[in-house]
Amino acid sequence: MFAIISDIHGNLEALEAVRADIAEKKVEAVFCLGDVVGYGPDPKACLDRAVEFDFTIMGNHDHAVFMEPTGFNTSAEQAVFWTRKVLDGEPEEKLRRSRLEFLAGMDEFRDRDSILFVHGSPRRPMHEYLFPDEGEANLTRLAESFDLVKHVCLVGHTHLPGVFTETMEFFTPAQVGHKYAVADRKVIINVGSVGQPRDLDPRACYVTVDGRDIRWHRVEYNYKTTMEKILATRELDEFLAARLAEGR
Ligand SMILES: [Fe+2]
Repeated sequence: MFAIISDIHGNLEALEAVRADIAEKKVEAVFCLGDVVGYGPDPKACLDRAVEFDFTIMGNHDHAVFMEPTGFNTSAEQAVFWTRKVLDGEPEEKLRRSRLEFLAGMDEFRDRDSILFVHGSPRRPMHEYLFPDEGEANLTRLAESFDLVKHVCLVGHTHLPGVFTETMEFFTPAQVGHKYAVADRKVIINVGSVGQPRDLDPRACYVTVDGRDIRWHRVEYNYKTTMEKILATRELDEFLAARLAEGR
């Protein structure tokens, strides 16, 4: 069995709660689908824990630390600049460099036992969103993504957990009893977000894969501490704190 986590977003309290939950299970490996940093107040500590994962895919927020941010709204862009400042301000040169090298060295995708791991979508791994709504553009995006999937694809990025079927349907974890048995048909699974859930459930979210059984897990954590840390920076948007309490 392995665990897949995504979109930690510098939220150390959520990450520690998820790590403790994973430690109680028979998990052989932890894979991360990216966005270790961005939005949250603890980019350094989250990166220091991410180096222990078996691999980490590069998310758009990880990428934006060392490249120009593209497609970010104002508060996300502010968070990028704040994150850069914090990482660049690390007084210990070796530590500073190793964190930046870890960020820059993340993979764009991984393919392992016919499971494809990306941050956003198979078509544009780092940036493209696969949203659950059934708009025409989204359906095209989804169809073209399925063309690139051999069997199972694991994604994050939207912070909305669930499963896309090859018949272009989407089911939330609640709609499928928080577990999904993969059959022979292709599926794209969104593992949700550890550090900034947006499905109106503030608990941290991650997935375990055991053979063909996918399970979504929700873990309570002390988001009030994270909110206080965000507000204490005085530079991160207050909305980034408020949304943690509501999971939006
Ligand atoms: Fe994200």
